[in-house]
Amino acid sequence: MDISEELYIQAKKTRENAYAPYSHYKVGAAVYSDNGKIYVGCNVENISFPCGTCAEAGAIASMIAGGSEKIKAILVIADGKDLVYPCGACLQRIAELGDDNTTVYLANMEKICQKYLLKDLLPHNFKEEDLGK
Ligand code: THU
Repeated sequence: MDISEELYIQAKKTRENAYAPYSHYKVGAAVYSDNGKIYVGCNVENISFPCGTCAEAGAIASMIAGGSEKIKAILVIADGKDLVYPCGACLQRIAELGDDNTTVYLANMEKICQKYLLKDLLPHNFKEEDLGK
């Protein structure tokens, strides 16, 4: 099976567990790490709204906690009228642990709809060199 299909199955299943009582917008994510493992996440909202976390952030935290280091691909799934695009903060999170060629799949409840390279979604990220060191 193509890895994107496996990411789709796992992200879709994880999305069901999302905690989104305020937006009612459930999101699932699955990361494929460079050592061949898959990590999942979902959005977890909070009554103090800024404390909520995106599905991508959860999947990335799980990847780091699981001992993997680099993102080869990530899939994000939601059930909206439009596709779910990772927010700016999550693109920066993906950039931190991915590279220009990290693949970003966007999916809805029916199928994978879009495939991007990270550099196309975030052509200019904030990076270590920008600290001037
Ligand atoms: N959300 C994600 O989990 N990932 C995205 O890429 C976009 C937005 C969540 C955050 C919040 O819980 C809900 O979707 C509505 O914004």
